[in-house]
Amino acid sequence: MKPDLIFHQLFEPETSTYTYLLADPLTREAVLIDPVLETVERDLKLIEEEGLRLLYILDTHVHADHITGADQIRRRTGAKTGVSSKAGVTCADLALVDGQELRYGSHVLRVLETPGHTNSCLSFYGDGRVFTGDALLIRGTGRTDFQQGSSDKLYDSIHQKLFTLPIDSVVYPGHDYRGHTTSSIEMEMKFNPRVGSGKSKSDFAQTMKELKLAQPKKIHLAVPANLICGKKTQILNPQIVNGVPEVTAKDLQNCLDEVLVIDVRQPEEFNNELAHIPGSHLVTLCSELTRYLEVLPREQEIVFICRTGARSGRATEESLRMGFKKVANLQGGMVHWNELKLPTERHNQRERVV
Ligand SMILES: [Fe+2]
Repeated sequence: MKPDLIFHQLFEPETSTYTYLLADPLTREAVLIDPVLETVERDLKLIEEEGLRLLYILDTHVHADHITGADQIRRRTGAKTGVSSKAGVTCADLALVDGQELRYGSHVLRVLETPGHTNSCLSFYGDGRVFTGDALLIRGTGRTDFQQGSSDKLYDSIHQKLFTLPIDSVVYPGHDYRGHTTSSIEMEMKFNPRVGSGKSKSDFAQTMKELKLAQPKKIHLAVPANLICGKKTQILNPQIVNGVPEVTAKDLQNCLDEVLVIDVRQPEEFNNELAHIPGSHLVTLCSELTRYLEVLPREQEIVFICRTGARSGRATEESLRMGFKKVANLQGGMVHWNELKLPTERHNQRERVV
Protein backbone atom coordinates (compact mmCIF):
# COMPACT_ATOMS: atom_id res chain seq x y z
CA MET A 1 0.00 0.00 0.00
CA LYS A 2 1.39 3.40 -0.97
CA PRO A 3 1.94 5.57 2.09
CA ASP A 4 1.48 8.75 0.10
CA LEU A 5 -2.28 8.89 0.23
CA ILE A 6 -4.62 11.04 2.27
CA PHE A 7 -7.34 8.66 3.35
CA HIS A 8 -10.45 8.96 5.51
CA GLN A 9 -13.03 6.31 6.28
CA LEU A 10 -16.17 8.14 7.40
CA PHE A 11 -19.30 6.63 8.94
CA GLU A 12 -22.99 7.55 8.83
CA PRO A 13 -24.62 5.81 11.81
CA GLU A 14 -28.29 5.81 10.82
CA THR A 15 -27.70 3.57 7.80
CA SER A 16 -24.24 2.27 8.86
CA THR A 17 -22.80 3.59 5.61
CA TYR A 18 -19.12 4.20 4.97
CA THR A 19 -18.00 7.15 2.87
CA TYR A 20 -14.38 7.27 1.72
CA LEU A 21 -12.25 10.29 0.95
CA LEU A 22 -9.00 9.66 -0.94
CA ALA A 23 -6.55 12.32 -2.01
CA ASP A 24 -3.08 12.81 -3.40
CA PRO A 25 -1.05 14.73 -0.79
CA LEU A 26 0.96 16.58 -3.43
CA THR A 27 -1.64 17.73 -5.94
CA ARG A 28 -4.49 17.68 -3.34
CA GLU A 29 -6.75 16.11 -5.98
CA ALA A 30 -9.40 13.98 -4.32
CA VAL A 31 -12.10 11.37 -4.83
CA LEU A 32 -15.13 10.78 -2.62
CA ILE A 33 -16.87 7.42 -2.64
CA ASP A 34 -20.50 6.92 -1.53
CA PRO A 35 -21.34 10.20 0.21
CA VAL A 36 -24.62 10.31 2.16
CA LEU A 37 -26.98 13.28 1.93
CA GLU A 38 -27.19 13.66 5.73
CA THR A 39 -23.40 13.97 6.08
CA VAL A 40 -22.67 16.30 3.16
CA GLU A 41 -21.64 19.18 5.45
CA ARG A 42 -19.21 16.96 7.38
CA ASP A 43 -17.62 15.77 4.14
CA LEU A 44 -17.36 19.26 2.66
CA LYS A 45 -15.79 20.59 5.85
CA LEU A 46 -13.18 17.85 5.82
CA ILE A 47 -12.40 18.48 2.14
CA GLU A 48 -11.94 22.16 2.94
CA GLU A 49 -9.84 21.51 6.04
CA GLU A 50 -7.56 19.18 4.08
CA GLY A 51 -7.28 21.79 1.32
CA LEU A 52 -8.42 19.32 -1.33
CA ARG A 53 -9.76 19.77 -4.84
CA LEU A 54 -12.44 17.18 -5.33
CA LEU A 55 -12.40 15.70 -8.83
CA TYR A 56 -14.81 12.79 -8.58
CA ILE A 57 -17.81 11.77 -6.49
CA LEU A 58 -18.43 8.08 -7.08
CA ASP A 59 -21.40 5.94 -6.11
CA THR A 60 -20.81 2.20 -5.97
CA HIS A 61 -24.48 1.67 -6.88
CA VAL A 62 -28.01 3.07 -6.75
CA HIS A 63 -28.49 2.79 -3.01
CA ALA A 64 -31.81 1.69 -1.53
CA ASP A 65 -31.15 2.60 2.09
CA HIS A 66 -29.92 6.18 1.85
CA ILE A 67 -29.90 9.15 -0.52
CA THR A 68 -26.56 9.94 -2.10
CA GLY A 69 -24.91 13.27 -1.33
CA ALA A 70 -23.44 13.31 -4.87
CA ASP A 71 -25.51 16.13 -6.33
CA GLN A 72 -25.20 18.41 -3.29
CA ILE A 73 -21.44 17.97 -3.24
CA ARG A 74 -21.16 18.37 -7.01
CA ARG A 75 -22.98 21.70 -6.81
CA ARG A 76 -20.70 22.94 -4.03
CA THR A 77 -17.37 21.70 -5.42
CA GLY A 78 -17.72 21.37 -9.19
CA ALA A 79 -16.56 17.74 -8.99
CA LYS A 80 -17.89 15.19 -11.48
CA THR A 81 -20.27 12.46 -10.34
CA GLY A 82 -19.77 8.91 -11.55
CA VAL A 83 -21.98 5.85 -11.44
CA SER A 84 -22.20 2.66 -13.52
CA SER A 85 -23.18 3.11 -17.16
CA LYS A 86 -25.76 0.37 -16.49
CA ALA A 87 -27.47 2.23 -13.64
CA GLY A 88 -29.74 4.42 -15.79
CA VAL A 89 -28.69 7.52 -13.88
CA THR A 90 -28.72 10.07 -16.68
CA CYS A 91 -27.79 13.03 -14.46
CA ALA A 92 -24.37 11.55 -13.62
CA ASP A 93 -21.40 13.22 -15.31
CA LEU A 94 -19.56 9.94 -15.86
CA ALA A 95 -21.12 6.64 -16.95
CA LEU A 96 -18.48 4.26 -15.62
CA VAL A 97 -17.53 0.97 -17.29
CA ASP A 98 -15.40 -2.00 -16.30
CA GLY A 99 -11.66 -1.32 -16.51
CA GLN A 100 -12.03 2.47 -16.66
CA GLU A 101 -9.35 4.31 -14.73
CA LEU A 102 -9.90 7.48 -12.74
CA ARG A 103 -6.78 9.46 -11.97
CA TYR A 104 -6.27 11.84 -9.08
CA GLY A 105 -2.74 13.18 -8.69
CA SER A 106 -0.36 10.23 -9.07
CA HIS A 107 -3.06 7.75 -8.01
CA VAL A 108 -5.51 5.67 -10.00
CA LEU A 109 -8.80 4.03 -9.13
CA ARG A 110 -9.82 1.24 -11.46
CA VAL A 111 -13.51 0.53 -12.01
CA LEU A 112 -14.59 -3.08 -11.50
CA GLU A 113 -18.12 -4.08 -12.47
CA THR A 114 -19.35 -6.32 -9.64
CA PRO A 115 -23.10 -6.84 -10.25
CA GLY A 116 -25.32 -9.07 -8.17
CA HIS A 117 -26.46 -6.97 -5.20
CA THR A 118 -27.89 -4.70 -7.93
CA ASN A 119 -27.32 -5.09 -11.66
CA SER A 120 -25.10 -2.01 -11.75
CA CYS A 121 -22.83 -2.37 -8.71
CA LEU A 122 -19.25 -1.21 -9.03
CA SER A 123 -16.16 -1.72 -6.92
CA PHE A 124 -13.13 0.56 -7.12
CA TYR A 125 -9.56 -0.69 -6.80
CA GLY A 126 -6.37 1.29 -6.27
CA ASP A 127 -3.28 1.46 -4.06
CA GLY A 128 -3.95 -1.98 -2.62
CA ARG A 129 -7.42 -0.98 -1.49
CA VAL A 130 -10.72 -2.19 -2.85
CA PHE A 131 -13.96 -0.34 -2.20
CA THR A 132 -16.57 -3.01 -2.58
CA GLY A 133 -19.83 -1.14 -1.98
CA ASP A 134 -22.49 -3.71 -1.13
CA ALA A 135 -21.01 -6.52 -3.24
CA LEU A 136 -18.63 -7.85 -0.61
CA LEU A 137 -19.15 -6.92 3.03
CA ILE A 138 -16.97 -7.97 5.95
CA ARG A 139 -17.99 -11.60 6.59
CA GLY A 140 -21.07 -10.98 4.50
CA THR A 141 -22.43 -9.77 1.17
CA GLY A 142 -25.09 -7.38 -0.02
CA ARG A 143 -28.62 -8.77 -0.36
CA THR A 144 -29.82 -9.93 -3.76
CA ASP A 145 -33.59 -9.79 -3.41
CA PHE A 146 -34.39 -6.47 -5.12
CA GLN A 147 -33.07 -3.96 -7.70
CA GLN A 148 -32.40 -6.80 -10.20
CA GLY A 149 -30.29 -8.58 -7.61
CA SER A 150 -28.95 -12.03 -8.48
CA SER A 151 -27.08 -14.40 -6.19
CA ASP A 152 -25.50 -16.10 -9.23
CA LYS A 153 -24.14 -12.80 -10.54
CA LEU A 154 -22.94 -11.71 -7.11
CA TYR A 155 -21.13 -15.01 -6.54
CA ASP A 156 -19.37 -14.64 -9.91
CA SER A 157 -18.51 -10.98 -9.24
CA ILE A 158 -16.94 -11.85 -5.90
CA HIS A 159 -15.07 -14.92 -7.11
CA GLN A 160 -14.02 -13.68 -10.55
CA LYS A 161 -13.41 -9.98 -9.85
CA LEU A 162 -12.73 -9.48 -6.14
CA PHE A 163 -11.14 -12.77 -5.08
CA THR A 164 -8.71 -12.50 -8.02
CA LEU A 165 -7.24 -9.25 -6.66
CA PRO A 166 -3.95 -9.52 -4.69
CA ILE A 167 -4.92 -11.33 -1.49
CA ASP A 168 -3.48 -8.62 0.75
CA SER A 169 -5.78 -5.98 -0.81
CA VAL A 170 -7.61 -4.18 1.97
CA VAL A 171 -11.39 -4.49 1.71
CA TYR A 172 -13.38 -1.34 2.46
CA PRO A 173 -17.10 -2.15 2.35
CA GLY A 174 -20.06 0.15 1.77
CA HIS A 175 -21.58 -0.73 5.12
CA ASP A 176 -20.85 -2.53 8.31
CA TYR A 177 -23.42 -3.31 10.97
CA ARG A 178 -21.14 -5.06 13.48
CA GLY A 179 -18.37 -2.58 14.14
CA HIS A 180 -15.81 -3.79 11.59
CA THR A 181 -13.94 -1.25 9.52
CA THR A 182 -11.71 -3.21 7.13
CA SER A 183 -10.85 -6.70 6.04
CA SER A 184 -8.66 -8.21 3.33
CA ILE A 185 -9.36 -10.33 0.30
CA GLU A 186 -7.49 -13.18 1.98
CA MET A 187 -9.57 -12.97 5.17
CA GLU A 188 -12.82 -12.91 3.21
CA MET A 189 -11.73 -15.86 1.05
CA LYS A 190 -11.05 -17.78 4.24
CA PHE A 191 -13.77 -16.65 6.60
CA ASN A 192 -16.68 -15.13 4.71
CA PRO A 193 -19.49 -17.49 5.72
CA ARG A 194 -21.52 -16.86 2.55
CA VAL A 195 -18.99 -16.87 -0.27
CA GLY A 196 -15.64 -17.85 1.30
CA SER A 197 -14.24 -21.05 2.74
CA GLY A 198 -15.18 -23.20 -0.25
CA LYS A 199 -18.85 -22.19 -0.45
CA SER A 200 -20.33 -23.09 -3.83
CA LYS A 201 -22.63 -20.99 -5.98
CA SER A 202 -25.59 -23.15 -5.02
CA ASP A 203 -24.70 -22.88 -1.29
CA PHE A 204 -24.72 -19.12 -1.74
CA ALA A 205 -28.04 -19.15 -3.63
CA GLN A 206 -29.58 -21.18 -0.82
CA THR A 207 -28.24 -18.85 1.88
CA MET A 208 -29.56 -15.78 0.07
CA LYS A 209 -32.97 -17.38 -0.51
CA GLU A 210 -33.36 -18.08 3.18
CA LEU A 211 -32.44 -14.58 4.37
CA LYS A 212 -35.97 -13.06 4.49
CA LEU A 213 -34.84 -9.49 5.13
CA ALA A 214 -37.19 -6.56 5.68
CA GLN A 215 -37.09 -3.84 3.04
CA PRO A 216 -34.86 -0.87 3.86
CA LYS A 217 -36.87 1.90 5.53
CA LYS A 218 -36.01 4.53 2.95
CA ILE A 219 -36.22 2.41 -0.21
CA HIS A 220 -39.25 4.23 -1.67
CA LEU A 221 -37.53 7.55 -1.11
CA ALA A 222 -33.92 6.59 -1.75
CA VAL A 223 -34.06 4.74 -5.08
CA PRO A 224 -36.02 7.41 -7.02
CA ALA A 225 -33.85 10.16 -5.49
CA ASN A 226 -30.63 8.31 -6.32
CA LEU A 227 -31.72 7.82 -9.92
CA ILE A 228 -31.54 11.61 -10.18
CA CYS A 229 -28.17 11.79 -8.35
CA GLY A 230 -29.81 12.60 -5.00
CA LYS A 231 -31.11 15.88 -6.40
CA LYS A 232 -33.86 17.45 -4.42
CA THR A 233 -37.00 17.87 -6.51
CA GLN A 234 -37.42 21.18 -4.71
CA ILE A 235 -34.33 23.24 -4.01
CA LEU A 236 -35.74 25.69 -1.47
CA ASN A 237 -36.75 24.37 1.90
CA PRO A 238 -38.23 27.44 3.59
CA GLN A 239 -39.46 27.89 7.15
CA ILE A 240 -42.85 29.55 7.51
CA VAL A 241 -42.52 32.71 9.62
CA ASN A 242 -45.74 34.67 10.26
CA GLY A 243 -47.32 32.94 7.29
CA VAL A 244 -44.47 33.82 4.90
CA PRO A 245 -41.93 31.24 3.68
CA GLU A 246 -38.42 32.36 4.54
CA VAL A 247 -34.89 31.12 3.87
CA THR A 248 -31.69 32.05 5.65
CA ALA A 249 -28.76 33.74 3.97
CA LYS A 250 -26.75 30.50 4.24
CA ASP A 251 -29.56 28.49 2.60
CA LEU A 252 -29.66 30.94 -0.27
CA GLN A 253 -25.92 30.96 -0.68
CA ASN A 254 -26.00 27.18 -1.17
CA CYS A 255 -28.46 27.35 -4.06
CA LEU A 256 -27.71 30.73 -5.61
CA ASP A 257 -27.13 29.35 -9.10
CA GLU A 258 -30.32 27.28 -9.05
CA VAL A 259 -33.04 29.66 -8.01
CA LEU A 260 -34.19 33.00 -9.38
CA VAL A 261 -33.10 35.77 -7.03
CA ILE A 262 -35.21 38.92 -7.28
CA ASP A 263 -34.16 42.08 -5.49
CA VAL A 264 -37.21 44.30 -5.01
CA ARG A 265 -35.43 47.44 -3.76
CA GLN A 266 -35.29 50.77 -5.58
CA PRO A 267 -32.70 51.06 -8.38
CA GLU A 268 -30.55 53.47 -6.32
CA GLU A 269 -30.31 50.90 -3.52
CA PHE A 270 -29.08 48.11 -5.81
CA ASN A 271 -25.56 49.53 -5.96
CA ASN A 272 -25.47 51.39 -2.65
CA GLU A 273 -23.20 50.44 0.27
CA LEU A 274 -25.05 47.13 0.73
CA ALA A 275 -24.54 46.30 -2.97
CA HIS A 276 -26.45 43.27 -4.27
CA ILE A 277 -26.15 39.51 -4.52
CA PRO A 278 -24.28 38.36 -7.65
CA GLY A 279 -26.73 37.18 -10.28
CA SER A 280 -29.75 38.81 -8.66
CA HIS A 281 -32.32 40.66 -10.76
CA LEU A 282 -33.55 44.10 -9.82
CA VAL A 283 -37.33 44.25 -10.14
CA THR A 284 -38.70 46.96 -7.91
CA LEU A 285 -41.73 46.14 -5.79
CA CYS A 286 -44.65 47.69 -7.68
CA SER A 287 -46.55 46.90 -10.82
CA GLU A 288 -43.17 46.19 -12.46
CA LEU A 289 -42.82 43.11 -10.26
CA THR A 290 -46.31 41.81 -11.09
CA ARG A 291 -45.63 42.20 -14.81
CA TYR A 292 -42.29 40.45 -14.44
CA LEU A 293 -43.78 37.51 -12.52
CA GLU A 294 -46.83 37.12 -14.76
CA VAL A 295 -44.86 35.47 -17.55
CA LEU A 296 -42.84 33.08 -15.37
CA PRO A 297 -43.76 29.41 -14.95
CA ARG A 298 -45.44 28.91 -11.59
CA GLU A 299 -42.96 26.11 -10.78
CA GLN A 300 -40.08 28.61 -10.80
CA GLU A 301 -38.26 28.75 -7.45
CA ILE A 302 -37.73 32.36 -6.41
CA VAL A 303 -36.11 34.13 -3.46
CA PHE A 304 -37.09 37.74 -2.91
CA ILE A 305 -34.69 40.20 -1.34
CA CYS A 306 -34.81 43.76 -0.03
CA ARG A 307 -32.94 45.75 2.60
CA THR A 308 -34.17 43.95 5.71
CA GLY A 309 -36.94 41.62 4.53
CA ALA A 310 -40.14 43.70 4.79
CA ARG A 311 -40.68 44.65 1.14
CA SER A 312 -39.46 41.26 -0.06
CA GLY A 313 -41.92 39.66 2.39
CA ARG A 314 -44.72 41.53 0.60
CA ALA A 315 -43.28 40.43 -2.77
CA THR A 316 -43.26 36.81 -1.55
CA GLU A 317 -46.93 37.11 -0.52
CA GLU A 318 -47.79 38.66 -3.88
CA SER A 319 -46.10 35.79 -5.73
CA LEU A 320 -48.00 33.26 -3.60
CA ARG A 321 -51.26 35.00 -4.52
CA MET A 322 -50.25 34.71 -8.17
CA GLY A 323 -49.89 30.93 -7.81
CA PHE A 324 -46.15 30.49 -7.24
CA LYS A 325 -45.51 27.72 -4.70
CA LYS A 326 -41.72 27.48 -4.37
CA VAL A 327 -40.90 31.00 -3.27
CA ALA A 328 -39.30 32.46 -0.17
CA ASN A 329 -38.26 35.68 1.45
CA LEU A 330 -34.62 36.18 2.44
CA GLN A 331 -34.48 36.56 6.23
CA GLY A 332 -32.85 39.84 7.24
CA GLY A 333 -32.35 40.96 3.62
CA MET A 334 -29.16 42.56 2.35
CA VAL A 335 -28.33 43.95 5.80
CA HIS A 336 -27.96 40.46 7.23
CA TRP A 337 -26.29 39.17 4.05
CA ASN A 338 -23.64 41.87 4.48
CA GLU A 339 -23.26 41.16 8.22
CA LEU A 340 -22.33 37.59 7.29
CA LYS A 341 -19.84 38.97 4.74
CA LEU A 342 -21.38 36.89 1.96
CA PRO A 343 -20.47 37.80 -1.63
CA THR A 344 -21.91 40.94 -3.15
CA GLU A 345 -21.29 42.91 -6.30
CA ARG A 346 -21.80 46.47 -7.42
CA HIS A 347 -21.81 47.78 -10.97
CA ASN A 348 -23.51 50.10 -13.41
CA GLN A 349 -27.10 49.67 -12.36
CA ARG A 350 -28.47 50.35 -15.82
CA GLU A 351 -26.89 47.12 -17.04
CA ARG A 352 -28.71 45.17 -14.38
CA VAL A 353 -32.13 46.77 -14.25
CA VAL A 354 -34.72 44.57 -15.89
FE1 LIG B 1 -27.02 -1.24 -1.39
